[in-house]
Amino acid sequence: MIEVAIVLALSTLLVGIVAALVVRLLPTVRLQLTGLTVLAVSLPLGAVLASGWVMFHMHDDVKILAVSAASALSAVIGALLVARWIVGPIDELRLASRQLATGDLAARAPQLGRPAELAELATSFNEMAANVERIFDARRQLVAWASHDLRTPVAAIQAMLEALEDGLASPEEYLPVVREQVQGLSLLIDDLFELACIDAGALTLHLRSTRVGDIVETCLRAVDAQARVQGVRLESRVDEATPEISAAPDKVERVLLNLLTNALRHTPSDGSVAVIVEPAEQSVQVAVEDTGTGLAPGGELRIFERFWKADEARSRSEGGGAGLGLAIARGLVEAHGGTIWAEPRPGGGARIVFALPR
Ligand SMILES: Nc1ncnc2c1ncn2[C@@H]1O[C@H](COP(=O)(O)OP(=O)(O)OP(=O)(O)O)[C@@H](O)[C@H]1O
Ligand SMILES: [Mg+2]
Repeated sequence: MIEVAIVLALSTLLVGIVAALVVRLLPTVRLQLTGLTVLAVSLPLGAVLASGWVMFHMHDDVKILAVSAASALSAVIGALLVARWIVGPIDELRLASRQLATGDLAARAPQLGRPAELAELATSFNEMAANVERIFDARRQLVAWASHDLRTPVAAIQAMLEALEDGLASPEEYLPVVREQVQGLSLLIDDLFELACIDAGALTLHLRSTRVGDIVETCLRAVDAQARVQGVRLESRVDEATPEISAAPDKVERVLLNLLTNALRHTPSDGSVAVIVEPAEQSVQVAVEDTGTGLAPGGELRIFERFWKADEARSRSEGGGAGLGLAIARGLVEAHGGTIWAEPRPGGGARIVFALPR
C-alpha cells in the first residue's frame, strides 16, 4: 500500500503548488496574504483528513506519516513561492531607492502589473524620482547660467583694471564702464537673492490696503526719462471702479517696473507702451501693452522661466538682461495668490497681464 501513500503525497504536493500559483494571480498583496493563510491552514487540514482515511483503511503508521509530511511540505513550498513573488518586487524597489539615495538620479523601479499596492508604490516612486531629477537639472542649469552671467562682467572689470595698471588706458576712459558693470553685477545679485527668497518661501509681504493706480503713477514716473530718450510714448488707463486691494506695494511696484522695462526694451522709437488697470470679478488686472517686436514664437510660457531670453546673444552691455525679471515677477505675483500671463497684443506687440486677488 506504499503506492497509495506516494500517490497521496504527490497529489497534495501538486495541489499545494497549483494553489500557490492561483494565489499569485490575486490582484493585491492583501488578497495574496489571505490566500496564503487559507492555503497554510487548509493543506495540513486536508492532510489530517487524508491521514485519517488511510489510518482507518490501511492501519499503517508509516503511510500516515508519509502523507502528513508531504502535505506539510507542500504548504511550506506554497508559502515560500508566494513569499518570493511578494518579496521580489519589494527587493527591486529597495534596490532602486538605494540607487537614488546614493545619487543615481536616473534610477527607476520596474513597472509592475500586480500586486496592485506594489504597482502603485513603484509608480509613485518613479514619479518622485523623475521630479527629483528635474529639480536637480533645473538647479544645475541655474548655477551654470548664474555663474556665466557673474563671470562675464567680473572678467571685463579685471581686464579693464589690468589695462589701467599697465597704463594702457586712462581712468576717465574706463571708470564709467567699470561702474556700469558693477551696477549690473549688483542688480544680478539682488535678483538672484530675491529668487532664492521666493524659492525658500522666505519672502515677507507687508500687506496693506493698496491703490494700484498710485503704483502705476510711481512706476511711470520712474521710466519716464528712459521712454523720452527712446522716443516711446507712455500711457496709462486706470478704471475708476478699481477697488483697493490688500498687497505689498513695494513688490507690486517691482513687478510693474520689470514689465515696463521689458516693454521699453522691446519697443522701437515712435512706439507706445500702455498700462491698463481694470477690475475683474475676483481680482484687479494690470496689463502692460507695447507696440514692439512682440513675443517670440512659443515664448508665451517660456518667458517666465529663469534665464530664458528669446535672443540668447543679447548681453547686458547691449541692453539685454539676465532673463530673471519675469521669473521674479511671477514669483512675486504668485506669492500674492495672483496669476501672470503673456499674450500677443492685438495689432502687434506684446501684452503681459497680472491679476491680484481682491
Ligand atoms: N514686452 C516684451 N516683448 C517681447 N519680448 C519680451 C517682452 N518681455 C519679455 N520678453 C522676452 O522674455 C525674455 C525674458 O524676460 P525677462 O524680463 O525675464 O528677462 P530680461 O528682460 O531678458 O532680463 P532681466 O529682466 O533679468 O533684466 C526677454 O529676454 C525677452 O526675450
Ligand atoms: Mg526683464
